[in-house]
Formats: sequence, structure tokens, C-alpha cells
Amino acid sequence: MIIATPDEMAALGARIAAQLRAGDLVALNGELGAGKTTLTRGLGEALQVRGAVTSPTFVLARTHPRADGAALVHVDAYRLSSAVELDDLDIDFETSIVVVEWGAGLLDGITDHWLELDIVRPVGGVETEDGVEPRTVTVTGHGERWADLTWLG
Ligand SMILES: Nc1ncnc2c1ncn2[C@@H]1O[C@H](COP(=O)(O)OP(=O)(O)OP(=O)(O)O)[C@@H](O)[C@H]1O
Ligand SMILES: [Mg+2]
Repeated sequence: MIIATPDEMAALGARIAAQLRAGDLVALNGELGAGKTTLTRGLGEALQVRGAVTSPTFVLARTHPRADGAALVHVDAYRLSSAVELDDLDIDFETSIVVVEWGAGLLDGITDHWLELDIVRPVGGVETEDGVEPRTVTVTGHGERWADLTWLG
């Protein structure tokens, strides 16, 4: 799908949030500035999490509790070099909703069901003065839980 603006990216996050429950994992792939955190911000707002979703520069993972429901754990795996290090974060995947930026290749064997998003800035895309430029987003569902993606529209 084509996501034209940052607001649309956040709205996609909110649409995904509506599907999420404890035990779910979302992996976001895409180069620097692709829009991974922008999507996660919309997702977190829709889940009404405590604390602003930002790019965690000094922390690898930030837990955002919710008054009602599973906490959102936002992982920035950019500086994680291996699945072992991800394991070291001691995330309780069963009771949380986990969103991992740069998760490709690190998530093998963590769960048998997860949602994967690839966010691409089209080559030769035209960026407006305010830096807005369309992104191509591909959503892939892994496992029985995500076999049906019709809710994406
Ligand atoms: N169509 C779009 N969708 C999402 N973001 C966009 C779009 N067009 C422009 N942008 C801009 O691109 C930037 C995306 O930044 P963001 O922090 O979300 O990326 P990121 O993938 O998390 O980067 P990093 O790898 O550094 O964590 C924002 O400044 C946003 O305003
Ligand atoms: Mg980011």
C-alpha cells in the first residue's frame, strides 16, 4: 500500500493497534527515517499507552504501560547485533504487545506468529518542501493468527 504522509503512517499504526493483544509482535523494517517510529507513535496513541512514543536513543527498549490492557514494549534494535542481545532484554512477550524497529533477522524463534512491515522510500520519490514523501508499505502476516489480513482494507 502507499502511505502518502506521516499522518497516514500514524493512522496505519492505529489500525494495526486495533488488532493487537498480549502475545503479539510487530516487526518494522525500513531504512533510517522510513517512518517506523511514526507508525509506532500512532499505534501507541491508539492503545492509549502512558508516555510518549519516541526514538529511544539511549535505551534499547521502552515499556509503555496502559491503564487497561497489555503494556506496549517498543524496541529499537538498531544497536542490537544479535538475537542473543534481544534475549538479554528479558521482554515478557507473552504478556506484552511488542513492536520492534529493525527486527529483521533477530526475531526467529521468538514466536510462531507475528506481523511484519517493510517500509520503503521509493527511489526517485519526490519530497515536498516539508519533507513529506510517499512510502510503500508491505504487510506480511506470519502464522495462523495473521493468516487473514482483510482488516487492513
Ligand atoms: N509518508 C511518510 N510516512 C512516514 N514518515 C514520513 C512520510 N513522509 C515524510 N516522513 C517523515 O519521515 C520521518 C520518519 O521518521 P521516523 O523517526 O518515523 O523514522 P524511523 O524509521 O523510525 O527512523 P530510524 O531508523 O532512525 O528509527 C519523519 O520526519 C516524517 O515526518
Ligand atoms: Mg525509529
